[in-house]
Amino acid sequence: MKKSILITGGAGFIGSHVVRLFVNKYPEYRIINLDCLTYAGNLENLKDIEDKDNYVFSKVDINEEKLLAKVFNDFQITDVIHLAAESHVDRSISDPLAFVKTNVMGTVNLLNTARNFWKDLGNHLFYHISTDEVYGSLDNGGYFTEDTPYDPQSPYSASKASSDHFVRAYANTYGMKTVISNCSNNYGPNQFPEKLIPLCIHNIKEKKPLPVYGKGENVRDWLYVEDHARAIDEVFHNGLPGETYNIGGFNEWKNLAIVELLCKIMDERLGRSAGESAKLITFVKDRAGHDLRYAIDAKKINTELGWEPSLTFEIGIEKTVDWYLENEPWLKGVTSGEYLHYYKAHYS
Ligand code: NAD
Ligand code: DAU
Repeated sequence: MKKSILITGGAGFIGSHVVRLFVNKYPEYRIINLDCLTYAGNLENLKDIEDKDNYVFSKVDINEEKLLAKVFNDFQITDVIHLAAESHVDRSISDPLAFVKTNVMGTVNLLNTARNFWKDLGNHLFYHISTDEVYGSLDNGGYFTEDTPYDPQSPYSASKASSDHFVRAYANTYGMKTVISNCSNNYGPNQFPEKLIPLCIHNIKEKKPLPVYGKGENVRDWLYVEDHARAIDEVFHNGLPGETYNIGGFNEWKNLAIVELLCKIMDERLGRSAGESAKLITFVKDRAGHDLRYAIDAKKINTELGWEPSLTFEIGIEKTVDWYLENEPWLKGVTSGEYLHYYKAHYS
């Protein structure tokens, strides 16, 4: 049977790269991008593929039971790749319920709809995209493996951990064919400028303060978004049912070092004198419950599925800066309106 794949959250940052990869690489598949277009969803991200014959967009909230069932029926959905979520930790601290609604209840609603629609659960795949934050914080060294016990620390990570548990429960209880991947921090084109890297690029350009939480010593492992999309392609096609795959960049950075690197690249790009943008660095109150360090051991996906990052961070970060500088209308579009309220409430 021809695949008819429902990709949720396809208008967001990572989702749009996954949709593009699948639409272009698999013309024989039908790709249904289902997204309710929250502040983070932006169809501008997919302008280049919106007219392709194998692509459909459907504006639906994953909590809308009836509409979701209609989409499954109308497009005879064969598989799901689930990315739709509230994704920003700081927003989860100010509004945890929104995260429960979409990340927990929305995911269960999607699982239920798939379970009701698919006659033979063994013939279809429900692929859930999750985060390394479910494992908590690595304060004493080491790496997250697929066997690391869950220990989520923020409302965001608690909601993602809960959704992971529900996916495994559907596999165990109903025999649904599922797979989960947990990835580290993504960066690259189309990321909403509430996240560290695009926020800093935007603020450096505008000569605004660069808010570094605490002392900037927290560590994250960064992966270029197109490499995450390639990993998702690999797991979707070759991952084993019931398995979990950790995805990471083998690329740990302290936050302050990343901000300094961005200042250096931007000084060069904008013709500013060396050190000029670094003067914008401003240490601000730390994030509540701020996880100290995340680091992924991505050995399993590397040895079992042959995936590895294709770009070094040095190349990826330059590509990212250049993308934001070359796509000023995109950045302008997303930094007006609601963004201004968020920015004001959060940083002043
Ligand atoms: P994003 O915030 O950029 O995009 C989320 C998308 O989901 C948006 O298009 C939004 O409109 C849509 N959405 C939100 N609520 C919805 C709902 N109720 N119904 C339908 N659509 C809805 O997020 P992202 O950074 O691209 O993350 C995508 C997924 O990957 C999330 O599940 C996230 O937890 C996971 N993840 C993200 C990262 C990262 O570094 N960004 C790392 C690991 C895992
Ligand atoms: O690890 C994967 C996770 O990475 C994903 O699951 C999340 O969806 C994604 O948002 C990201 O979470 P982080 O909280 O790590 O990303 P963020 O870009 O918000 O922050 C990165 C680090 O930078 C973190 O330690 C907090 C810090 N920070 C962030 C912002 C927005 C600052 O110092 N200043 C800031 O203004």
